[in-house]
Amino acid sequence: MRASAIVFPKVSSIKSNIMSAESMQLAASEFTNTNLEVLLTEQQIQERVKELGAQITAEYANGDVVMVGILKGSCVFMADLMRAIDLRMTIDFMSVSSYRDGTESSGDVEILKDLSNPIRGKNVIIVEDIIDTGHTLARLLEILGTRGANSVKLAAFLDKPEPRVRKEVKIDYCGFVIPNHFVVGYGLDAAGRYRNLPFIARVKDPSAA
Ligand code: IMP
Ligand code: MG
Repeated sequence: MRASAIVFPKVSSIKSNIMSAESMQLAASEFTNTNLEVLLTEQQIQERVKELGAQITAEYANGDVVMVGILKGSCVFMADLMRAIDLRMTIDFMSVSSYRDGTESSGDVEILKDLSNPIRGKNVIIVEDIIDTGHTLARLLEILGTRGANSVKLAAFLDKPEPRVRKEVKIDYCGFVIPNHFVVGYGLDAAGRYRNLPFIARVKDPSAA
């Protein structure tokens, strides 16, 4: 066989990895969990992300783009969005923790993982899962604004503009504006769970989540 040939596994070996119908019924399905109400379907999300990718591709024709994903919530959006952007580009990640006074974000941000490479002279697009109070992103934009980037813009998959006290944060590329529900899926979590859902859902009973 030539080294460059693509090898597909035999159907018989795939079959042995598929659960029987019987064991499927016994396994609890996360995707059809009855405590979830779907707000945005996988198809709606994919269509919108492709539109955002096309918009970014058109606006950065001169390139030198660095997409900076904010871990962990942005990972799914980032993976889809970057494949919809037809430009020469690189990616990097940051992890931050925002301190909360009770349930409200206080605006203090600690950098848990910083960028791997300098952004001086680059066109940075920060990729975030959701803007709620906006405190985390407002502070992060301040921090990244001191590092000599050519431009710093923000792509947020969801915008929840209804919450009470809200920092002014300009979202340059917004996936969807949603009502003030706690939502999960497509990277967003509730206590670490649900990031793997291919759709966005509202958790009906958070105490059972
Ligand atoms: P804020 O904009 O500083 O209030 O914080 C935004 C962060 O809070 C996001 O990056 C999420 O990690 C988290 N967050 C806010 N709303 C939700 C939600 O509805 N579901 C899951 N995480 C959320
Ligand atoms: Mg987040």
